[in-house]
Amino acid sequence: MKNLALFRLNRWLIFTLVVTLIGCKSEGPVKSSVTETIDVTALDPHSYANFNEVHTQHLDLELEVNFTNQKIYGVARHTLINRKATKAIFDINGPVIQKVTLGPKGKEVEADFVIGKMDKDSILGQPLIVTIAPSTKYVNIYYQTGDECAALEWSSQEEKDRPFVYSQGQAILTRSWIPLQDSPNVRITYQAKVTVPKGLMALMSAENPKKTNEQGLYNFSMKQPIPSYLIALTIGKYSYHSYNERCGVYADSELLPKAAEEFSELPEMMAAAENLYGPYAWGRYDLMVQHPSFPFGGMENPRLTFVSPSIISGDKSLVSVIAHELAHSWSGNLVTNASWNDFWLNEGFTVYLEHRIMEYLKGQEYSNILCEIEFDELNQELKEIKASEHPEDARLKLNLTNRNPDDGMTSVAYVKGAYFLKTLEAKIGRTKMDAFLKGYFKKFAFQNITTETFYDYLHSQLLTVQGISFNTDEWLYLNELPKNMVKIQSKDLDTMRLLAKKTNQGENIFAPVKKFKWVEKKYKKKRKRKSFKKVYFTVQLDPKKYNTQMWQTYLRSLDSTLSTATLNTIDESVGFSHANNEIRFEWYMVCLKNNHWAIKEGLSEFLRNIGRRKYVLPLFKELLRHPKERNWTAELYRNAKANYHSVTRKSVEHWMK
Ligand code: BES
Ligand code: ZN
Repeated sequence: MKNLALFRLNRWLIFTLVVTLIGCKSEGPVKSSVTETIDVTALDPHSYANFNEVHTQHLDLELEVNFTNQKIYGVARHTLINRKATKAIFDINGPVIQKVTLGPKGKEVEADFVIGKMDKDSILGQPLIVTIAPSTKYVNIYYQTGDECAALEWSSQEEKDRPFVYSQGQAILTRSWIPLQDSPNVRITYQAKVTVPKGLMALMSAENPKKTNEQGLYNFSMKQPIPSYLIALTIGKYSYHSYNERCGVYADSELLPKAAEEFSELPEMMAAAENLYGPYAWGRYDLMVQHPSFPFGGMENPRLTFVSPSIISGDKSLVSVIAHELAHSWSGNLVTNASWNDFWLNEGFTVYLEHRIMEYLKGQEYSNILCEIEFDELNQELKEIKASEHPEDARLKLNLTNRNPDDGMTSVAYVKGAYFLKTLEAKIGRTKMDAFLKGYFKKFAFQNITTETFYDYLHSQLLTVQGISFNTDEWLYLNELPKNMVKIQSKDLDTMRLLAKKTNQGENIFAPVKKFKWVEKKYKKKRKRKSFKKVYFTVQLDPKKYNTQMWQTYLRSLDSTLSTATLNTIDESVGFSHANNEIRFEWYMVCLKNNHWAIKEGLSEFLRNIGRRKYVLPLFKELLRHPKERNWTAELYRNAKANYHSVTRKSVEHWMK
């Protein structure tokens, strides 16, 4: 594999894991048990796959989706590039393996395989080790998904009329519904034949239908090689709205008109991104508005970004999420992190690109606002990281060996990563920065790189040749935020902090204020001396003048010592409890900090309807700080959790322990 040459093995922690292998022939019962030592892999601490010896080049999926027992029955046909390996190791976490065969379809012979023991913390799942010959080109794995499947979220009994199922692969959940080499290092093309109940539409991160197939038969093809975490499937009653010949949006039929209106700036965003970073490499770009349980604001599945319906606000105020997911078409999907230790290469670059796209669309002040809000979040999170058992998580280059890759999903990767690029831009100027990034995406297109490869490229292509000194090492490998970090501030947010200060001091900022001005008196006859009179008028703050991000800052700047009267006044004046989800979330956080329980009904409605982890987790964390409300909180969680994807559920339950 071309990518592998890019690795510097000496920089990687090589570790081994002893797995007890249980012999497991296709006929069923355990026949033998072996103990074997397996290198998890020096190249990716989150995969058992021996992809440096043998790796999948193309995957052919045959899937039958059964909504009655909520299982997928499948065959995963792997076409291999085999460097004379005698075993091929795949990752699984949940699937029940029925049999494994070797050879092209129709000419298959049954193969021996063993399944290793689950890792201690059940993070990685199990290795599936198939005995192959040095010349083997095809491995076919027959399987069904397990009783629990971490990637898939199915509709509940109450949603019988609108059944759905969708998958979330990142970071290492694809192995829960497809047996494969689940490392971002293994780029594959794929095809899929999917059978679903009649009347439902199936979509994947691939070439997609625009209409429901009456028989429930779908064929998909992804021709560009992608890492496994980007394989995605969603099935439901969807309709499609096209913006132009290249992009559009899928959504539940009822929601489609609103969604289409909300995201209508998509063509402009694409133009802006292509203008900056080179041609869009994936053919079409469509959005798919997911079920409200979707655990993220957005997920950059190639050709088909999944977005949470929670970003539909009616006034396009949360569309930077779309700019973010679109930006991943370059940073992440085209140039991919080699392992989850290099996650910042995906997210830091993407936040930088997101801000550039939003700047193009809405101006510099808007992008500054986004940036400053995120900077505050970074500082908040850095405090927690410093006090945690892993203060080294404050570095861009992570070491997540023996840990869940989700632990790396902090604002360090996102915001510190973006600030690194912004600081570099400030140093070298925008023209050089843009040329550098365009060249970077071209050079590493469809490859996976480590932080070290990026470092070498930056220094050899830009810094050394142009004689520029830059503290790259400090940015990438130290905990502290470097001193040369650019400061990005927005005047609009200063205004909001000042308003919050007044509220904190007990002033009603929404009350009409009587003011006067001096106006010259007018006389019929001209007089020698001018004289003036006082003219009184009232001014009142108009909440509509301030956008979502400004209110977000206002709410975050409020103290936890506000009176009920104050809280009622500000809610009545602005309507926080009926605003968009971003504002509602901040408002409930303020209320909980202030022991203002009048919001219980609204909060519980919010938590039962939205499964986005960014909202659900902080709200439950805050609720758990109130022992008196423990029963109410537990009851609420019991009712709400059926509507959460396993990603959100696991995060909340980790805290509840
Ligand atoms: N790829 C991420 C979501 C993700 C990261 C899923 C790691 C699983 C593991 C996506 O692009 C993302 O960053 N979503 C953000 C959007 C925001 C930063 C605009 C989210 O969901 O909040
Ligand atoms: Zn992202």
